[in-house]
Amino acid sequence: MPFSLDQVVPWGRSFDEYVRMFALTEVDLGRRILGCADGPAAFNAELTGRGGTITSCDPLYQFSAAEIEDRIDACFETVLEQTRANQDGFVWSDAIPTVEALGQVRRQAMQTFLKDFEAGKQQQRYVPAELPELPFPDGAFDLALCSHFLFLYPSLGRAFHVESVVNLLRVASEVRIFPLLQLDRQRSPFVEEVIGEVTSLGHVAEVVRVPYEFQKGADEMLVITDVPG
Ligand SMILES: C[S@@+](CC[C@H](N)C(=O)[O-])C[C@H]1O[C@@H](n2cnc3c(N)ncnc32)[C@H](O)[C@@H]1O
Repeated sequence: MPFSLDQVVPWGRSFDEYVRMFALTEVDLGRRILGCADGPAAFNAELTGRGGTITSCDPLYQFSAAEIEDRIDACFETVLEQTRANQDGFVWSDAIPTVEALGQVRRQAMQTFLKDFEAGKQQQRYVPAELPELPFPDGAFDLALCSHFLFLYPSLGRAFHVESVVNLLRVASEVRIFPLLQLDRQRSPFVEEVIGEVTSLGHVAEVVRVPYEFQKGADEMLVITDVPG
């Protein structure tokens, strides 16, 4: 089914959240990074501003900044309302103390993205692409990051998850995926399935605790690397 804008609820995280979700070090930030399913996150804009090398891919990028902005505006209050109704499912801290603060952090991140998007698309830093396929050559990246897409939606199914991760490993020598929970806060059954599959293909897979928890219990990422040569 073709991707349509009214299917997506654009919701983008900040650079600081990406650093903590994926436990990124300065060395990591200097690698050739692919941000897969980055949507309207600020990570690409801010990392580029710091001199980093990053490509983001998402089917959302087939639309213009104005179209994406309209969709953000149409969804924004509904998402905050849903968060307010499920406040107990989140960890409120100094970084994000209230639903209103969450709205400000997300709005700022998405504005940073929107300001950067058209220029970034020209520079091929934002590429329209849809998992499980990826339009990049083998080994094009050192590190692929996937935040809040894989494992979050059980309806995507086992085959989609395995095929997507195999493709991420084709284009990058290391893959990190966060979180490992579904929207209902249950651990995705596909975590173990993916670990089994990539291990059988000769990769090393490890679940690693990270210094980030917003959805309660979501404080681990999956790291998959090539076998040390
Ligand atoms: C919840 S958002 C996460 C955005 C960003 N990674 C973050 O954490 O702030 C999920 C993103 O997945 C994207 N998406 C949907 N289907 C996809 C697919 N088949 N392949 C890659 N991305 C997809 C959506 O367009 C959306 O931007």
